[in-house]
Amino acid sequence: MLRNRRDAFGWGTIALHWTIAVLIVGLIVLGYAMTRPDIDPEMQFSLYQWHKSFGMTALALASIRLVWWLANIYPAPIAGLSMLEKRGAAATHLFLLTLTIAVPLAGWAVASTSTLGIPTLLFNRLLIPHLPMEKSDDGGGVLDDHAFLARLRPGRPCRVSRRRGAVPSLLAAGRGFEADAGNIPARRGVQRPSNPRRNRQMRRFYRQCVATVALALIATAAQARAPSLDDAAGRYDIDGSSQINFSVAQVGGGGISGKFGKFSGSFRLDGKDIRRSVVEFALFPDTVQTGEPRIENFLKSNAVFDTANYPKIVFRSTKITQTGDDTAVIEGNLTAKGTTKIEHFSAKLTKWNRRVISFHIEGDIFRGRYNMAVGIPIYSNVVQFDMTVNGQRR
Ligand code: HEM
Repeated sequence: MLRNRRDAFGWGTIALHWTIAVLIVGLIVLGYAMTRPDIDPEMQFSLYQWHKSFGMTALALASIRLVWWLANIYPAPIAGLSMLEKRGAAATHLFLLTLTIAVPLAGWAVASTSTLGIPTLLFNRLLIPHLPMEKSDDGGGVLDDHAFLARLRPGRPCRVSRRRGAVPSLLAAGRGFEADAGNIPARRGVQRPSNPRRNRQMRRFYRQCVATVALALIATAAQARAPSLDDAAGRYDIDGSSQINFSVAQVGGGGISGKFGKFSGSFRLDGKDIRRSVVEFALFPDTVQTGEPRIENFLKSNAVFDTANYPKIVFRSTKITQTGDDTAVIEGNLTAKGTTKIEHFSAKLTKWNRRVISFHIEGDIFRGRYNMAVGIPIYSNVVQFDMTVNGQRR
């Protein structure tokens, strides 16, 4: 008998009741176990995902149970109960039924409003969308954006161009000329009497200006041609102004992106045979920055980088293949978390001015190969690196 009868519950109700009950007891145990402070971070991540998957299952079953309850007749109470006892039993039943919906709904809301934005992937198969609720953000990422924009704001005095460069030196030359000639700039609206000597000097000055501007333009045009790897041969130290950015996609869009604050390295570009060039690079995963401290701590933990035991990630090139005038593929050994694997990065020379050199370097790393598989498939196995590497000539 699937459906309820007047004298007994059908097995449909009984099966739903006990499945939901077992799930709830399991979820309470799991809930407390996963939030223990001393738990291993990798284990904690997977317990949270199991908790969310079973929790959503409990919510689905509780919703079916509610419809089932509305669509079925209810067995009559046992004979001999007082009216108060009958009402009390019905009210308690309704309260518990509401709880079986409200508790997982609240859990879903917790997962949806977390600034971590971890997707709920039902048993690693089906993406459950977040509830349309506002995330409780601490503003960290926005502050970073503001600082970045502040550096770009127009009207900010540019110290370098005040001291050096073609335009400032022309202005300085002009001022020097004025001082030599004993000339004082005319105030607006005040006519000066004509002075033939001063006019000659003025003409000479303007000719000098035009020549300087022309020379500057020719020099700029010469530099503007795409720099080639051959031109840039030499030894360089990787500069702190470099940007080592990475991102990891997540199911349903978005993901984690960040950068490393501390790194070091050097490279030698062989002008005669680019294949003999060498790149060495080390980065310190303890300086990972994502704008969200909880994610940073998780990345530093033994679930991912394990910075306490492996403070450095090292890359050393073994082969460089030139693929164009200004492009190359760098092959080399990447050592992270005690594992060494061969990786490839594509590099493009973007800037070179004899002292400073810049490359745009991209590459995809499969983190699972370095014992950092936590979170797959919710978070992609592929870590995309997008780097601007600046070198200072030794
Ligand atoms: C009947 C179903 C559920 C029960 C009985 C249950 C029970 C619990 C319990 C006992 C905790 C630990 C509370 C604490 O000490 O902080 C917890 C935490 C949590 N639950 Fe559930 N849960 C259910 C469903 C869900 C669902 C459906 C989701 C999300 C889809 C969810 C997400 C979470 C999260 C994210 C936490 C951690 C909160 C924190 O870190 O403070 N739960 N749950």
